Amino acid sequence: MERDIRSIVKQMTLEEKAGMCSGSDFWHLKGVKRLGIPEVMVSDGPHGLRKQNDKADHLGVNESIKAVCFPTACATACSFDRDLLQELGEALGDECQAEDVSVILGPAVNIKRSPLCGRNFEYFSEDPYLASQMAAAHVKGVQSKNIGTSLKHFAANNQEFRRLSVDERIDERTLREIYLAAFETAVREGKPDTVMCSYNQINGEFASESHWLLTEVLRDDWGFEGYVMSDWGAVNRRVPGLAAGLDLEMPASGGATDAEIVSAVKDGTLDESVLDTAVERILRIIFKYTDGRRAGDFDLEKHNRLAERIAEESMVLLKNDGVLPLPREGRQIAFIGSFAEKPRFQGGGSSHINPFRITGALEAAENMPQITCDIRYAQGYDVKEDRTDAALLAQAVQTAAAADAAVIFAGLPDSFESEGYDRSHMRMPDCQNELIREILKVQPNTVVVLHNGSPVEMPWADDAPAILESYLCGQAVGEAQVRLLFGLANPCGKLAETIPFKLQDNPSYLNFPGDGHTVGYQEGVFVGYRYYDTKEMAVRYPFGHGLSYTTFSYSDLTLSADQIKDTDTLRVSLKVKNNGNMAGKEIVQLYVADHTGCIFRPAKELKNFVKVFLEPGEEKTVSMELDKRSFAWYNTDLHDWYAAPGEYEILACASSRDIRLRAAVRLTTRTRLPLAIHRNTTVAELLANPKTAAVISSMTDALAANISGDAENSSEAAAEAITKEMSLKMLENSPLRSFKSFVGMDEKELAELIARLKDALETE
Ligand code: BGC
Repeated sequence: MERDIRSIVKQMTLEEKAGMCSGSDFWHLKGVKRLGIPEVMVSDGPHGLRKQNDKADHLGVNESIKAVCFPTACATACSFDRDLLQELGEALGDECQAEDVSVILGPAVNIKRSPLCGRNFEYFSEDPYLASQMAAAHVKGVQSKNIGTSLKHFAANNQEFRRLSVDERIDERTLREIYLAAFETAVREGKPDTVMCSYNQINGEFASESHWLLTEVLRDDWGFEGYVMSDWGAVNRRVPGLAAGLDLEMPASGGATDAEIVSAVKDGTLDESVLDTAVERILRIIFKYTDGRRAGDFDLEKHNRLAERIAEESMVLLKNDGVLPLPREGRQIAFIGSFAEKPRFQGGGSSHINPFRITGALEAAENMPQITCDIRYAQGYDVKEDRTDAALLAQAVQTAAAADAAVIFAGLPDSFESEGYDRSHMRMPDCQNELIREILKVQPNTVVVLHNGSPVEMPWADDAPAILESYLCGQAVGEAQVRLLFGLANPCGKLAETIPFKLQDNPSYLNFPGDGHTVGYQEGVFVGYRYYDTKEMAVRYPFGHGLSYTTFSYSDLTLSADQIKDTDTLRVSLKVKNNGNMAGKEIVQLYVADHTGCIFRPAKELKNFVKVFLEPGEEKTVSMELDKRSFAWYNTDLHDWYAAPGEYEILACASSRDIRLRAAVRLTTRTRLPLAIHRNTTVAELLANPKTAAVISSMTDALAANISGDAENSSEAAAEAITKEMSLKMLENSPLRSFKSFVGMDEKELAELIARLKDALETE
């Protein structure tokens, strides 16, 4: 049904319009009965539906309806699987339709700047391209069911410490290339119905009242057409917020801020058309939902199976000296650690789901008919106490020693990471590290299985024969772990973030989380592997790393061209072969390395990836595209993306540190970087531009001679003091005003030279 939203807005009173711009309670928008505007509900997600019926709160204190807890974003990102994320979104969309929820709040696409951020488990990656791809697929899946999403938290909400007020100091290039890029592609490709603005300030301005962020970037630049809602309580000043582009305040403001909007319109400080536009945007999404309503039921069991499959596709086999897969019959296997019985599978706070079932590995192994091994369990540690319990430890060591193999289920307790606060270190509980060390002494076939929302230090990693990273993998975590451990499924996830050896290695270490008022993003664009790889630093496990029970080889890297214009699309293809005897999936990653020398950039950046399924011995050709953005960086003189002319390398990789194939491509562009000509413009800059070079080149000899003297006739000692190389560099580094100091130009002649150079630059 085509609705005339404008005419509905015209019939609304000023008070009704202002009222539409804030919630009626924690989870509902207001309606206007006389005009047929319904009160719709929004609910938290994003890795499950958290719908509260009774006492509402936004931090997960009170129970929500029973639902399915899917793996969290830190895990699903490791699947590198757009289709899988879309399927997850579709399932969430069905649940929302069944429960009459118009918008599910998420996905959250903030970049993992530091491993310490308490909410990293809700975020996808340290890489903006991967994060944007996962988010776009999630959004498309949910919205295919005519349910809205709310891409959050816009923007740069990368820490919990003082999240409601902290001022983040981030330079323009870093914002665009890292922190906004994840949102940008998700907005352009996924077209979310809503975006949720974050609590924090960016460069002195609250996100909730930044016209630049909410209107110029989000709408004018990226073409966002939905409505912007505030994070819960993120409004600093309501009227400037509305003018900046914040359409809906959540939750309810008790009428206070509605009244502020009404008086601002009445006294002329707010143009009523701004209010009308916000209301139109909100109504368009409300009616999109109600007009396309397809209430139905959903199948909890089916969604549980999907949660299991996603978990299986997301877990990352970090290390395997050959102990995995475990034998399925005739052996005694020790399952050690309370997470085997009661796994940790989600994080705390507003995304907390009330799962209708939870399956730990112990239960899963006992119920899986293919596994007939004798599984012996020992608790090992008390998850509530970070203190070694001597009796539990002794029993665990004994159980492990008596078995043919041991699997230790370890990781972070709930209290170690959550929404609302950041971690203060990257360690696991000491008692668990001790348990792992003691078991490694008595059992050579030991596997460590981790449950954590963010990387942990692994001081025992060199001694552990195998490590499976299961992150926070949803309610069916145990089934997925058991299927992977016993080889009923083949691990195929890869890390969506780097695991450094220690916290101090992380690039944000010296500037996280700031002084309580401000935090400087001093590491700039060098976030995650962009830093570690450029510095050639050793890391525990690199970005994109993940093993399989088979091996894959790459060959025949082909580019559709070896010369491209920045407006072209480059097609990259290669062959991938499964060399083992188990079917498996490989994630092929394409990185671009900029060798143009135009600006200092990360050694390589991820620009595309594909996940391919291969039967034993099978070979397939995979293709991916690269476009201008794949080569570009954000130029702050142009205020736009710029791909410099010159040579780039295309790297086909199995991880950011495992480069399998390389090919070079040359890029040309018609874009010219602006050249500002003034008394301090350097000779090098002028010689680099053909138009200004034509004016200046004939004059540089005199300057060179006067800077470095008569090199040809100088003594040997003088020639040593001033080498040819030095003379050249001194010339290149000379600003125009050097003509005054060394060639005897006066101020008038310098001004004339500057004018001539400017004229030359402007001629076609
Ligand atoms: C969180 C959001 C969440 C909202 C509603 C806020 O505290 O930052 O992610 O959607 O609460 O619960």
